Amino acid sequence: MINKPHLIHFNKIGSPALGYITIAEEQENVPFEIKRVYWTYYTPQDVVRGGHAHKCLQQMIFAVSGTITFNTEDLQGNKQTFVLDHPSKGLYLPNLIWRDIHFTHSAVLLCLASENYDEKDYFRDFEEFKNYHHG
Ligand code: TYD
Repeated sequence: MINKPHLIHFNKIGSPALGYITIAEEQENVPFEIKRVYWTYYTPQDVVRGGHAHKCLQQMIFAVSGTITFNTEDLQGNKQTFVLDHPSKGLYLPNLIWRDIHFTHSAVLLCLASENYDEKDYFRDFEEFKNYHHG
């Protein structure tokens, strides 16, 4: 289960009157050591980001604002769509998952990542990704 992309529903603490807090914590609900955090913003609605897979990197991703849609594909050709439409929803992405990402206006993506940035960890060519044999 852990090595497949899946949505996680994080607890939200609060009330409509006070607002909410959601917590992502290593070992509690994030299954890797968090080495890096980044966020993306101001992505126009007609732009598709992503277009890559990672050799080793694991990620936990949130839409802290707006709605963000992930279309994923694994090495076996399994395709899935995940819609992050609430700040308490997290998408766990293991390594070796190709993703295209669509954003609504003013969506903000927050990513917790298991490794420091390394361009060598990226597949940016889909055919190269699909031809990768690991083991
Ligand atoms: P990329 O991972 O391709 O973003 P997206 O999937 O959202 O399109 O990264 C975009 C650019 O930012 C690319 O030139 C690499 C750079 N970058 C860093 O330098 N450090 C980082 O931690 C990340 C995530 C990206």
